[in-house]
Amino acid sequence: MTDSAHLTIDGKDGDYPVMAGTVGPEVVDIRKLYGNTGRFTYDPGFTSTAACESKITYIDGDAGILLHRGYPIDQLAEQSSFMEVAYLLMNGELPTAAEHDLFVRTITRHTMVHEQLATFYRGFRRDAHPMAIMCGVVGALSAFYHDSTDIHDSQQRVIASHRLIAKMPTMAAMAYKYSVGQPFLYPDNSLSYTGNFLRMTFGVPAEPYVVDPVIEAAMDKIFILHADHEQNASTSTVRLAGSSGANPFACIAAGIACLWGPAHGGANEAALNMLREIGTVDRIPEFIARAKNKDDPFRLMGFGHRVYKNYDPRATVMAATAKEVLAKMGVTDPVFDVARELEQIALSDPYFVDKKLYPNVDFYSGIILSAIGFPTSMFTVLFALARTVGWVAQWNEMIEDHDQKIGRPRQLYTGETHREYVPLAAR
Ligand code: SDX
Repeated sequence: MTDSAHLTIDGKDGDYPVMAGTVGPEVVDIRKLYGNTGRFTYDPGFTSTAACESKITYIDGDAGILLHRGYPIDQLAEQSSFMEVAYLLMNGELPTAAEHDLFVRTITRHTMVHEQLATFYRGFRRDAHPMAIMCGVVGALSAFYHDSTDIHDSQQRVIASHRLIAKMPTMAAMAYKYSVGQPFLYPDNSLSYTGNFLRMTFGVPAEPYVVDPVIEAAMDKIFILHADHEQNASTSTVRLAGSSGANPFACIAAGIACLWGPAHGGANEAALNMLREIGTVDRIPEFIARAKNKDDPFRLMGFGHRVYKNYDPRATVMAATAKEVLAKMGVTDPVFDVARELEQIALSDPYFVDKKLYPNVDFYSGIILSAIGFPTSMFTVLFALARTVGWVAQWNEMIEDHDQKIGRPRQLYTGETHREYVPLAAR
């Protein structure tokens, strides 16, 4: 380990301590740089910047490794449950059977939303994008729970976190029901977390709904694969909003807004739309050419990643799950064949190989979600539902971190220097 970084500016020397984590890149502590040199670092997009210390998720982008509290994502996806992963992310350890049962009971008892919240949905047009609805109604939760917004009270933070985890499926299902003109279903707490969500989404009051265990297991695995991912854009948004002491429900609404972007969580919707636009294998070269054309803004959606310069381990699990679910459901979706062929062609094309562009978590997820019956407009809502457990875990960690203070980046100013105001009559 290097113990310090030496910097000489204008003939003035400065040493900046190097800090090491348990694994992964060391960091140069530059907190004193501006005071010592009158200069900032410059890192648009934070490609080389660690904004915090964290113990929750570790990613090695070159090796394609993703660990949640040290546990590999493929083992969690194959052997764990979303509720168990939620407990792990929030508490740092896998729960005992008793801890797991208490956690599930606690979350289950927060699944209903205030009856007044349902009126917020009726203010939207029926064709409103479900993510627009989620930005609104999750933010509106901040108007309902005045008993759990003292962020310096750890118990209130826990209650707010449990409420968010528990109510996201209910609100997501309500957003879907509203878009298709069907009545909302109340939660049925005799069902699992994921089964409850499926029933609220696809059930109707007119007849009983039986949860399909194949779909329940696939959905739970998809939630696990989306649960957390280090300091991605939406998590950083939640942390930055939370650093001002903002209402926890409003912070999660800010995360939802950021996740919606097609460069981030919105890519799952964009990826399936792209695969459908390609339509057949013989049209793949046309789209590959467009993705490589600097003058064409088109990018292969579901491909590439800021951190992964190898296979996104979540994409590997997602591809296998897609194949398994389609087979078990007896669904043949030509889009899956297009996705497989596109992946093979891209991964042998020098452009993608040289730029280390691989499929990411969003490339295959839409195929499964579509087979289950979700419209593409709901895909990012499902991403937000799952990522809520990561957001609340990271938000709690940020508040408990004594090094954290309100986030306030600086800038390189390239605008006008001082000039005197010119009255309108003189212009
Ligand atoms: C998620 O951060 C996270 O962890 C996010 C996430 C999570 O779980 O929270 O993993 C979820 O957001 C996954 C990513 C979903 N987005 C997409 O699939 C959209 C398509 N991908 C890209 O837009 C892009 O790859 C990003 C946004 C994901 C990453 O972009 P970067 O890191 O800023 O890299 P870049 O845009 O600078 O690209 C590097 C080069 C560029 O070419 P050059 O300027 O060097 O010549 O690669 C090219 C890009 O043009 N490139 C692509 C491409 N992605 C990057 N070219 C074609 N198709 C693509 N998909």
